[in-house]
Amino acid sequence: MPPAVRSDAHVFAGGVAPPAGTLSNPFAGDRQAAGDGERIFRAMNCDGCHGGGALGWEGPSLVDGRWRYGGGDGEVFHSIYYGRPRGMPAYGGILETDGIWKIVTYLRAQPVPQDVPTEQWTP
Ligand code: HEC
Repeated sequence: MPPAVRSDAHVFAGGVAPPAGTLSNPFAGDRQAAGDGERIFRAMNCDGCHGGGALGWEGPSLVDGRWRYGGGDGEVFHSIYYGRPRGMPAYGGILETDGIWKIVTYLRAQPVPQDVPTEQWTP
C-alpha cells in the first residue's frame, strides 16, 4: 500500500503537517522502464482518452508540462493509482505498482511539444 502522499503544494493548517510519506520512483530516469511504460500506456488504453503520445484528447495532455494534480513522480503515481474525480479511472486495482511507476517514468521522460494543443487550463 502506498502511504498518503505529501506534495510541495500542500498547505498545512496551523503549520502542522499530518503524517504522510513521499513516494519515490524506483525507475526514475531508466530509459528501458520508460519504453515499457509507453507500451503499458497503449496496452491499457490510456491513449484512448489521453491521445496518442499522451498529447491530449478527451483527457488532458500529460506531456504539456502543466498538471492539474501535480507533476511530481508521487503525484502522477497518485493520479493513476487512485484516479481523479473528473473522469480519471483508478488503476491501482488492476495495475502492478511497478507498471504504474513505468508509466510515470514514460510520461515524465517526454519533452514538452512545441505546439501544445491545450493552450491553458482554467479550473
Ligand atoms: C475514460 C478516460 C480515461 C482513461 C481511460 C484514462 N484517463 Fe487519465 N484522465 C482522464 C481525465 C478526464 C482526467 C482529468 C481528471 C480530472 O481533472 O479530475 C485524467 C487525468 C489523468 C492524470 C492527471 C493529470 C494532471 O494534469 O494532473 C494522469 C496522470 C492520468 N490521467 C494518467 C492516465 C493513465 C496513465 C491512464 C492509463 C492507465 C489513464 N490516465 C487512463 C481520463 C482518462
